[in-house]
Amino acid sequence: METTNQPVSMPRIGDKAPAFKAVTTQGEINFPEQYSGSWVILFSHPADFTPVCTSEFMTFASMEDKFAQANCKLVGLSVDGLYSHIAWLRTIKEKIEYKGMKDVEVKFPLIEDITMEVAKKYGMIQPGESNTKAVRAVFVIDPKGMIRAIIYYPLSLGRNFDELYRVIIALQTADAFSVATPADWRPGDEVIVPTAGSCGVAKERMEKKQEDVKCYDWFFCTKKLDKEKVFSTILKK
Ligand code: BEZ
Repeated sequence: METTNQPVSMPRIGDKAPAFKAVTTQGEINFPEQYSGSWVILFSHPADFTPVCTSEFMTFASMEDKFAQANCKLVGLSVDGLYSHIAWLRTIKEKIEYKGMKDVEVKFPLIEDITMEVAKKYGMIQPGESNTKAVRAVFVIDPKGMIRAIIYYPLSLGRNFDELYRVIIALQTADAFSVATPADWRPGDEVIVPTAGSCGVAKERMEKKQEDVKCYDWFFCTKKLDKEKVFSTILKK
């Protein structure tokens, strides 16, 4: 039977994150309900005891406090079982030293999903890539349980965790200051005002020549937003 290219329903940006209960390395979770009020990154990896995944887990776990400061929790998933997860995370902590990271403890929950129920619900099984493993999916979910960003990587490509942190900060900046963030934006760079769809406001801005606003044309205006202001608004004290 042909298994590739079958229509599947996948959550999209703007959807409510599909709900599930699951067993994890940190006990049972009720997702996304118990994460209400926090940002959360739900991410899948293909398999325990594999090199790219190991490098990813060590990197993500090393950055967990940084994400926590931005009110963002991490939840991992693969279609391996709980005992495999526990053994792999113990091996990482006890044996692996990589790029200056050692004794790395993964404190965030790692979901066991042997039945692939959650992976299928989230479109993490992509048969063109693998029928038996989840691809490297990233779902960014906001404090109201809405999906705000989705990123997929194939099995062979490790993710860029600085980029995931940038995504969290950029989305929170957009929400807090009612702005959009341009290409390659980093905190301290100019932001775009107003957000798409309100060109009337932009036109008025251009004509009035507001001091802090720079317009390249009527549809493209930016303003300064200090890094300190971004971080003091977003990060936990
Ligand atoms: C890895 O994490 O190294 C990996 C996992 C599945 C397929 C290929 C690579």
